[in-house]
Amino acid sequence: MNKCFQWDQCILEHFFMMFLLFLKVVVIKSNFISRAQKVNVFLHVNDGSSLQSLQVVAGAELNDPLLTFGSAVEVSGILQESPHEKQPLELQADSIRVIGECDPVDFPFKVKKRHGLEYIRQFPHLRCRTNAFSSLLRIRSEATSAIHSYFKDNGFVQIHTPIITSNDCEGAGELFQVEPAGADEHFFSVPAFLTVSGQLHLEATAGAFSKVYTFGPTFRAENSQSRRHLAEFYMVEAEISFTQSMEDLTKVMEDMFRSATEHVLARCVEDVDLFHRHVTPGHRVNSMLKKSFPVITYTEAVDILTRSSEQFAFPSDWGCDLKTEHEKYLVKHCGNVPVFVTDYPYDLKPFYARDNQDGPRHTAAAVDLLVPGVGELCGGSLREERLSVLRARLEQLGLEDAYSWYLDLRRFGSAPHGGFGLGFERYLQCLLGVDNIKDVIPFPRFSRSCLL
Ligand code: 4AD
Repeated sequence: MNKCFQWDQCILEHFFMMFLLFLKVVVIKSNFISRAQKVNVFLHVNDGSSLQSLQVVAGAELNDPLLTFGSAVEVSGILQESPHEKQPLELQADSIRVIGECDPVDFPFKVKKRHGLEYIRQFPHLRCRTNAFSSLLRIRSEATSAIHSYFKDNGFVQIHTPIITSNDCEGAGELFQVEPAGADEHFFSVPAFLTVSGQLHLEATAGAFSKVYTFGPTFRAENSQSRRHLAEFYMVEAEISFTQSMEDLTKVMEDMFRSATEHVLARCVEDVDLFHRHVTPGHRVNSMLKKSFPVITYTEAVDILTRSSEQFAFPSDWGCDLKTEHEKYLVKHCGNVPVFVTDYPYDLKPFYARDNQDGPRHTAAAVDLLVPGVGELCGGSLREERLSVLRARLEQLGLEDAYSWYLDLRRFGSAPHGGFGLGFERYLQCLLGVDNIKDVIPFPRFSRSCLL
C-alpha cells in the first residue's frame, strides 16, 4: 500500500484526476461512524502491507448493511488530501462492493478492541487478521530477509539441507519417523526421519565452500508444553571452516544477532512500536545491543549459580545440564544482555563436539548463547576435526558404521571448523518480548496439537 500511495500521490499532485483504486481488503479496521441517512460513511480499509489503514469516505447512498468489521471489499474512488493531519490522504469512494461478508456476531475479533495474544491463539486460522499478529508476521518476514542478507553480505553460501534424513544429529532420540501411510517396509530401505538439525549436511558442504548456512524447518518429538519448545520450528544454522578458536564462532553469532535486529528495528518501525506500546509494554531489545556480549565458561556459570541465594528447582552442580531457570538467572546476573556460555561438560554434548582434553573436569568446545526472557537461543560448537579422536568417540558410542561417511569428511581434507544453530522462533520471542513461542509462528505444532 505504501508504494501505491506514492504513485497515487504523484497523480494527485499533477492531475487531480479520478482513478480506480482496487483494494482487496481483508479487514475493515473501523466500522461506520454512523448509519444515519445523509451522513457520510467512514471505513478503514487495510491490505495487510502495513499497519496503516486507508480511510475511505463515502456518501450515505453507498452505505450497505453488509459492510461490517472484517469483511472483504472492493472500493473505487478518488484519492484526495485529507483534512486530518495524521493521515495525509483519504479515498473519496464512488463505489463500494462487498466481496466477502463477515458475520459480526461470530467473528471472534471486535472492532476497536485489543485482544491479547492468548485469546487470539485460539483462532490460528484467523488471528493474522488482528493488528498484533499481522505486525508479528511482517516482522517475522523481515527478520527472515535480514538473516539471509547477513549471510549473503558475509560470503556464506546457502545450502538446502534435507528435511528427510537417516541421521539423528543430536543423538537425543527426539525423532519423527517418516514412512508412507500403511507401509510395512521402509520406503528408503532404512529408517528415515524428519531432520532435527541440518548440521551434519552443512559440515559436508563446509568442506567445499568454507562458509555455509541453512535456514529451514526442523522437527523435534519433544513431549513438551513449555513456552519455548515446538515440535516444528525454524532453525538458522551456519558452519565455518578454518576456525582458529571459539571466538571465530561467537563473533559470527553476535554479528548475526546484531545485524538482524538492527535491520528489523529500522525496517519495521510501526510494527515494533505496536508491540512496545500495546502487546509487550516495557520490552526493549535495543538495550541488549549496547555492549558486546559477555562470555563465561560453564564452570564459571556453575560457580555463579552455586553462590547465588536463588532457590532453583533443579540442581546446578558441575556436570548438570543448565535448565531454563539457570539460564535466565545467568542472563540477569550478567546485566540482562545476551551472554555466551562456553566449554560444557564433555559428556553433555553430542559426538561431534571438539574434545578440550582438559583433565578431570572434562569439557567440550561447545557454546550456547543465552538471551533475556528466553534462555538458550543458540547452540553451537567447534567440531571434532581430528580423525582419531572422532573415530574413538564414535566407536565408544557404537556409531562408527552409521557415521562412516562423516569420518570420510575428516579423512579427506579436514579443516578445523565450527558452527551453530539459532532457534528462529526464540529469536522472535527475544526481539519482541513475547512470552509464549506459540505466538511467534503462524501455525504452531506441539505435542497434542496439530490444528489445521
Ligand atoms: O542446541 P540445538 O539442539 O543445536 C543443534 O541442533 C545443533 N546441531 C545446531 C548446530 O550447531 N548447527 O538447537 C539449536 C537451537 C536452540 O538453541 C534453540 O534455540 C532451538 O534451536 N531449539 C528449539 N526451538 C524451538 N523448539 C524446540 N523444540 C527447539 N529445540 C531447539
